Amino acid sequence: MKIMEIEGGRELSGTIRVSGAKNATVAIIPAAILTDEEVTICNVPEITDTDALCDILNELNVKTSRASGSLVIDPSKMKNGEIKEEYSKKLRASYYFMGALLGKYKEVSMFFPGGCSIGARPIDLHLKGFEALGAKVTKIKNKYTVKADKLVGANIYLDIASVGATINIMLAAVLAEGKTVIDNAAKEPEIVNVATFLNNMGAKIVGAGTSTIKIEGVEKLHKCFHEIIPDRIEAGTYLIIGALCGKNFKVDNLIPEHLDSVLSKLEEVGIDIQVGQDYAIVSNNNKLKHTTIKTAVYPGFPTDLQQPFTVLLTQAEGKSKVVETIWENRFMHIKYLNDLGSDITVKNQTATIEGPTKLNGTTVVATDLRAGAAMVAAGLLAEGTTTITNVEHILRGYEQIIEKLESVGAKITLKEV
Ligand code: UD1
Repeated sequence: MKIMEIEGGRELSGTIRVSGAKNATVAIIPAAILTDEEVTICNVPEITDTDALCDILNELNVKTSRASGSLVIDPSKMKNGEIKEEYSKKLRASYYFMGALLGKYKEVSMFFPGGCSIGARPIDLHLKGFEALGAKVTKIKNKYTVKADKLVGANIYLDIASVGATINIMLAAVLAEGKTVIDNAAKEPEIVNVATFLNNMGAKIVGAGTSTIKIEGVEKLHKCFHEIIPDRIEAGTYLIIGALCGKNFKVDNLIPEHLDSVLSKLEEVGIDIQVGQDYAIVSNNNKLKHTTIKTAVYPGFPTDLQQPFTVLLTQAEGKSKVVETIWENRFMHIKYLNDLGSDITVKNQTATIEGPTKLNGTTVVATDLRAGAAMVAAGLLAEGTTTITNVEHILRGYEQIIEKLESVGAKITLKEV
């Protein structure tokens, strides 16, 4: 197991550059196999989720090579085959191979995906979408086989605007016969980035970023060059860290429009923030106001930033509330924040935070990726040393987090125990 030791209470100052978006990357890597030609993707973050997907590609006889932020994927000698459970359980996004392999070979066999334990995380909407396109789904224990003689475009209404289901159905539909319409589609910027990638390969998708996506099936996709958008969740995490411990703390290479709700909330609690075309500069303000945040699908406040934002609210005067509406199990960080000295109670899907409270270093657990980010934020603020265990969760999604934070003055040691 890897642990992080953070010496907290230091003022952070300087610039952190945001990497490519994890949640776009993890869909675009599986999507690349929809062509037989070589694809180059730049701005690919070096995180363990990327490595895990490349391992799956290699198992399918797809060549991958990396050079300074780019990933080249060559599926010309690819062979379809069952994706073993040891691979699929490493991350949630392994499920994008379902849509991609089904789209390309009309057959896929793989196990239920892994990922953070933040809720039940069913995949029923993905499977209903595949069935609507003409596939038959067979499930034996946790293994799924999805097969079709041919895929034919269909009108699909998603009961929930699911990011994963929207992308997976797009992947299965781009090579289907005729037109597919996805209604109540998710609108996250990562979906637009994936649709742009598919269109760069010759797909015909319109409407990504709205709640109706239309896909006209094509016969073949071709090679392309594509750039991953900046990671809005990584950017938001560093903005929150800057708000907690920063002085002229610049978060560079972000798209401000992708962070509207977060920037508004930072301003609302009283953070000094200066937003430029592709950056934001924040400084800690000693007197913060309480607020309520409620997670929602994009463009609402992102659930993935709820946990780090809670750390900021421990420093606000009065009673703040965090209402989680997407995941039923996303308050596991609260116990550890309270161990650090916060005063938070959770009832149903709402956390109530009484502040401000002084945080003091202790040993805490990164129970999932964004809970881990919250622990890092808290550890940077707390007096003394905070030891975070299970940091593998954090390394799944934050590229060079230690190097980036050390470059602005943090003191963090990574150890293998
Ligand atoms: C993606 C993100 C994750 C983020 C989440 C919500 C990736 C790899 N992960 O996860 O970081 O927290 O969006 O912004 O992009 N649901 C069903 N049935 C389904 C699919 C989803 O009931 O078939 C429910 C889920 O349980 C959840 C809600 O829909 O309550 C949203 O899930 P979804 O948008 O699919 O999240 P992911 O794509 O898994």
